[in-house]
Amino acid sequence: MNDHRDQNASRLAIDYRNAMAAAVGPAHGVTDAMLDEIAPLIAEQHARLAAERAAGGQRWMELPSDTALVAEIEAFAAEVRARYQDFILVGIGGSSLGAIATVQALTHPFRNLLPSESRGGPRFFVLDNPDPEKVIATLETVDLAGTLVNVVTKSGQTAETMANFLAVRQALQAAVGPERARQQIVATTDPAEGLLRALADEEGYRTFPVPPGVDGRMTVLSAVGLLPAAICGCDVDGLLAGARAMRSRAEAADVRQNPAYLLAALCILADTRLGKSILVTMPYADALFGLSDWFRQLWAESLGKRLSLDNEVIFTGQTPIKALGAIDQHSQIQLYTEGPNDKLISLIAVEEYRARATIESVPAGSPELDYLQGAGLGRLLQREQIATAWALAEAQRPNFTIAVPAIDAAILGELFYLYELQTVMGGALLNVNPFGQPGVEAGKNATYALMGRDGYETLREELLASTGTESVYQLPTG
Ligand code: PA5
Repeated sequence: MNDHRDQNASRLAIDYRNAMAAAVGPAHGVTDAMLDEIAPLIAEQHARLAAERAAGGQRWMELPSDTALVAEIEAFAAEVRARYQDFILVGIGGSSLGAIATVQALTHPFRNLLPSESRGGPRFFVLDNPDPEKVIATLETVDLAGTLVNVVTKSGQTAETMANFLAVRQALQAAVGPERARQQIVATTDPAEGLLRALADEEGYRTFPVPPGVDGRMTVLSAVGLLPAAICGCDVDGLLAGARAMRSRAEAADVRQNPAYLLAALCILADTRLGKSILVTMPYADALFGLSDWFRQLWAESLGKRLSLDNEVIFTGQTPIKALGAIDQHSQIQLYTEGPNDKLISLIAVEEYRARATIESVPAGSPELDYLQGAGLGRLLQREQIATAWALAEAQRPNFTIAVPAIDAAILGELFYLYELQTVMGGALLNVNPFGQPGVEAGKNATYALMGRDGYETLREELLASTGTESVYQLPTG
């Protein structure tokens, strides 16, 4: 049993002083007056969200409470961990990024290379891009007789996912025969609708639901993210406990009391009033790089919109960028500090890393390195984060720090929920619908048309009339 006594209360802290005008000047920092001005709108939108939730809307907010689903997932995952050596997740976007972020944050960085007894589950492979080189390499690497495949798609028809899945399914069938292949496939999809649902019913796959009414990028705390995480040995109960802790903390309507609303206000004010059209997320931990990738999709797809809620063309959205401390201090920070002052930078600081590496001694002939004597690598990384926040502020570059005491399941659950609520409130402040992704759908439909899918003939003709060809190598060149 996992001990969640400490996971019932939120443990993360936010230091936003460097995002304020007092630190970086009025041209670049948010002012108290701006926060006061936006507070009534936030309180109003908070009331709207609460009313919609009470009426059965905003279904994503309920995911942290689904303990029955967690019990089912944990029981299934325990069987899988005992039976399979390899595990392939097939899915893309919201159907894979949450699981990738979770497994990266909560398991050994080289877990696939560990011996099975210390790995905590089968080796983990993700097929998101339909890149034939990676798909074939994955199929060559796994032992198909001992491989579980989890195909995840909310719509049940995404081209990349279905193509990758069909490639894996045929390899599995060839290796173990159709009957065993069927037993080695688990589908996570809509409970009632879609092509994958129909195929799962026809072939008799074990299935888990993608919750109806929740967008793909908000499903990390459903079976979409939790099942792969549990199979890889992550503490999914702890994840939900952390998300619940953040949900309780984020019940305040006051922008200064509610961490999600505060971050939404800082980001949207920085974008719309101070010209910070780019939002960088820079954790100081390799384990949290996947989280910044997950957030990048969440912020981009939710807020990057052409139309306002009043149907006006506004072309809005702040561009999210992922960076990694300290690596990007040697790559991106030069640009962030001296390039265009168009960014708000979010640093994630970790108080206690899960491993210690202390420099016991430095060579006697290198007194310049004495400052490292007795220091841990974790302390160096922490100090680099503090130094970067300071240096950015000195250069009038607004930034804020989300500090976590450690990287564990509960903190990750808190971060997922925090970012989701921040994004939903961000949509309200921009006056856009944060749900749906019409820009993504257009590309999906064009792909179907170019691949010759039935029902897309007119679009295909339109596309071919415009491009003149299906092959990039036949495009007219300049
Ligand atoms: O957030 C979203 O809704 C999208 O990013 C989807 O997750 C992505 O397009 C994959 O869709 P599906 O799960 O239907 O295959």
